[in-house]
Amino acid sequence: MEYKVFRDSEVDSWKEVMLVYSSALKEIGTKIEILNDEFQHVHRYNPIEHVKSRLKTSESIVKKLKRNGYESTIENMVKYVNDIAGIRIICSFTTDIYRIAEMIANQSDIKVLSVKDYIKKTKPSGYKSYHMIVSIPIYLSDRIIDAKVEIQIRTVAMDFWASLEHKINYKFEGNAPEHIKDELYACAQMVSALDAKMLSLNEEIQAIERERENEKNTP
Ligand code: GTP
Ligand code: MG
Repeated sequence: MEYKVFRDSEVDSWKEVMLVYSSALKEIGTKIEILNDEFQHVHRYNPIEHVKSRLKTSESIVKKLKRNGYESTIENMVKYVNDIAGIRIICSFTTDIYRIAEMIANQSDIKVLSVKDYIKKTKPSGYKSYHMIVSIPIYLSDRIIDAKVEIQIRTVAMDFWASLEHKINYKFEGNAPEHIKDELYACAQMVSALDAKMLSLNEEIQAIERERENEKNTP
């Protein structure tokens, strides 16, 4: 076989580690679903449009370890690859992003290991998103293992931008022509303007709804 990832002796540990990461995705996925249901119950709207989750492939894990100058061992992947388990939460409004992030951080069994706010500090590419690396305990039959999960939270518009930019970068292997990069950056600014406009429109609609409720309730 040409492409061998880990030594034979490590295959069992590899399977066990991936089982732990896939359990972590399930745990976090359920937590997010519960938070969304509760939010719907209290505020009568869903902050989350949809959720996507994925496990990194062995090929991508090895590539990332290599890129960062680490040997391909299970120990190194657990220590240095933070996005083996990844969840992306897509919501409607920028305010939802911070609400969801706070609700996740407030869960007592979740530890927030790091946060990168690319909404407040946009990447030079124009990329916007809120990233958290968290850890969650996974209960196995004889021990508890903390597993890391990368959570990306962004609006529908930010997600639209990120997926097109990702496709373009993939096509040009990271070297897109300058004018395309410039136009993408301009699109990112349009995304911000759109998100801001949609948020203010939504707030206006909610204020009108509240006013109507009040009128109905006052004799
Ligand atoms: P890796 O890119 O995974 O090595 O992560 P990092 O340690 O540099 O962290 P960062 O938070 O910057 O990026 C994590 C993930 O965010 C990436 O794997 C992508 O999914 C996404 N991301 C970051 N920057 C960009 C970007 O400029 N464009 C797009 N489309 N996605 C990005
Ligand atoms: Mg990644």
